[in-house]
Amino acid sequence: MPFLSLNDIARAFGSLEGKTVLVRADLNVPMRDGRVSDETRLRSIEPTIAVLRAQGARVLLLTHFGRPEGKLVDEFSLKHIVEPLAVVLGEPIGFATDCVGDAVSAALAGPEQIILLENLRFHPGEEADDDAFAKALAKHGDIYVNDAFSAAHRAHASTHGITKHIPSFCGLGMLRELDALTRALGDPKRPVAAIVGGSKVSTKLDVLTNLVQRVDHLIIGGGMANTFLFAKGIGVGASLCETSLSETAQSILARAEETGTTVHLPYDVVVAKALKPNIATRTINIHDVADDDMILDVGPSSVEALGDVLKTCRTLIWNGPLGAFETPPFDQGTVALAQTAAALGAGGDLLSVAGGGDTVAALAHAGVVERFGHVSTAGGAFLEWMEGRELPGVKALEEQAA
Ligand code: 3PG
Repeated sequence: MPFLSLNDIARAFGSLEGKTVLVRADLNVPMRDGRVSDETRLRSIEPTIAVLRAQGARVLLLTHFGRPEGKLVDEFSLKHIVEPLAVVLGEPIGFATDCVGDAVSAALAGPEQIILLENLRFHPGEEADDDAFAKALAKHGDIYVNDAFSAAHRAHASTHGITKHIPSFCGLGMLRELDALTRALGDPKRPVAAIVGGSKVSTKLDVLTNLVQRVDHLIIGGGMANTFLFAKGIGVGASLCETSLSETAQSILARAEETGTTVHLPYDVVVAKALKPNIATRTINIHDVADDDMILDVGPSSVEALGDVLKTCRTLIWNGPLGAFETPPFDQGTVALAQTAAALGAGGDLLSVAGGGDTVAALAHAGVVERFGHVSTAGGAFLEWMEGRELPGVKALEEQAA
């Protein structure tokens, strides 16, 4: 891979005794009632920190938290994360009340070997990718490691500008994500299938446009399938449907014809009169949807057929649920296909890479996260990668290796 890794740090610097490493993490963790509700992102930086600490480095952790928009907002202070992080890392964590200047020097005067710096986004210079701010960040370290793939779609001072001022390397978590994504879409084993679900075509237009020319099977599910069915002249009753995107859907289908990509839409569906838990449902052929029916999940015959498609594939990229999975029983299609994919992956026949928004929650609900080849911690960055866009945080690291 075209990146300088932690091994290259060892080659360039030897021991890191007496050195301070700035690690850009993404500790933008979900909170509920003042507590971290999912520790995945806290745990994801553990391997990188363990390697750096084993080599004797002191670690300064840089991260954003929420969207305080350049202002100091107590709710988004990283002081709330210090304790949960210390528990996960099993080591006392120091805290600097600012991410630049005297507060950092003061924290460095303390005994802790891992120090969390206050929210980068309390400074407008972070999101503006301001060079003076990037320099001020870089000043406190000898080496910079970016381990925040999920923030790599942002050209911010801590993900982009800073690499101009300090030797910069790729962390283990970042490398793991990039490796999986390259194997899924850069240079994949074929045939490749992509599952694109979720409610709206409008939010995934660029994803669909990119994937339709790169994969062998494009499986469209969730509410966005309704827009495609409508574009094909099939009645979708009272279902969620972006009728104004009919022409767009038609052009994606036309593009698929040109590129030889098979587009899969449901041919049986689960409908109800409203989106409510445990409401009366019917499983019907897609041509039998009544005017007051809402399509809320893909039907079992379609799920079985999609499972057969996956059996012929070597690589799967998954983004978005196939139905209204938060509201049972409309989770069944997503759960069943996720289990098929996980079983194929466990047998070594299919590399499955999933990420973005609701996807991780849907796969967790299906109980398959551990059995998937790679489940990304990223939301927006994963989507931008699926759109085929260059991620500024990744590009900056690539340039270091050039
Ligand atoms: C995320 O949670 O996806 C990342 O931390 C990026 O956050 P942002 O969308 O606020 O830049």
